[in-house]
Amino acid sequence: TFRVTLARSGQSYIIPSGVSITDALREYGVHIETSCEQGVCGTCYTKVLSGNINHKDVYLSEEEKQSGACMMPCVSRSASGDLILDI
Ligand code: FES
Repeated sequence: TFRVTLARSGQSYIIPSGVSITDALREYGVHIETSCEQGVCGTCYTKVLSGNINHKDVYLSEEEKQSGACMMPCVSRSASGDLILDI
């Protein structure tokens, strides 16, 4: 379980363990467009302002993953603590 804050609205949402960020946000009425939901296609590309990301996708390059500036929230999660997304 971790918390995701959306920078533009300032709203924070709890992401339960075992539920993807995109699925959890959809439950809260926040829609990030998805397609594959397997970390492959790139549709859900989301910029990240802060947080420690556990990248589980195969879409981003190693450089992008190490930058910590973007993530694929259909599969990737927080490694620890909260995430702030640039949406
Ligand atoms: Fe395809 Fe997230 S929906 S990478």
